Amino acid sequence: MMRKPFVAGNWKMYKTVAEARHLISELVPGLQAIDAVEKVLCPPFTALLAAAALLEGTDIGLGAQNMHWELSGAYTGEISPVMIAELCRYVIIGHSERRTYFGETDDTVNRKVQAALAQGLTPIVCVGETLEENEAGQTADVVARQVRLGLSGLSGVIEQAGAGAFVVAYEPVWAIGTGRPSTAQGAAKVVREIIRPVLAELFGDMTAQGVRVLYGGSVNAKNAAEFFAEAEIDGALVGGASLKAAEFIQIVQAAAG
Ligand code: PGA
Repeated sequence: MMRKPFVAGNWKMYKTVAEARHLISELVPGLQAIDAVEKVLCPPFTALLAAAALLEGTDIGLGAQNMHWELSGAYTGEISPVMIAELCRYVIIGHSERRTYFGETDDTVNRKVQAALAQGLTPIVCVGETLEENEAGQTADVVARQVRLGLSGLSGVIEQAGAGAFVVAYEPVWAIGTGRPSTAQGAAKVVREIIRPVLAELFGDMTAQGVRVLYGGSVNAKNAAEFFAEAEIDGALVGGASLKAAEFIQIVQAAAG
């Protein structure tokens, strides 16, 4: 099954509005020239409005980095899926930094994924084991649990919306921001032996083969092609290297093959 390559830049808590405008103006010409890849930028909330205006009329998608699951309410400091859907088509859900520092669990991830799909957003659902879990030989258990619980109760929605309605990002926590990525073969093995089989269990074989599964964790312009050479890896969720225009464009070019 053909899966269109997908590369998203997770800007994390970097870039003011002015800085975001500048980076987007540097990115647009280079990214627009690459048709074969679905490209997404995920700036901080405060830059989304400006980013949406700058990306209008381009084929570059916009995503948020998080959201609440309730549509509205007395939740000081939170942003609702309705608000995100006004500006974005995508939203990152369950990033390991959210799980580690902000108490997100498989249950909150599941609520958020359900809410995102209900608003027509494409969630980029992050899973991955910590260093301790990896060293204790728990990678398969942890990743399978995160996929199974994070995506539970969705079979009806996905049957209707199709395999393109969400994206999974495998991001081993020990590889994020460390400059020490997983090997491409190691990441592909987790996708092939753990993530796709659980997707097949949840949604059936056909859908599991159609879902884009990304790798994330210290992807840069030098190593990106190695990951994309793996048939199981359909793209990347890029942190640090997505803040540099030339480097991010090179990564998207590598995904185009
Ligand atoms: P990194 O971050 O590319 O800086 O390792 C990836 C991510 O957190 O999504």
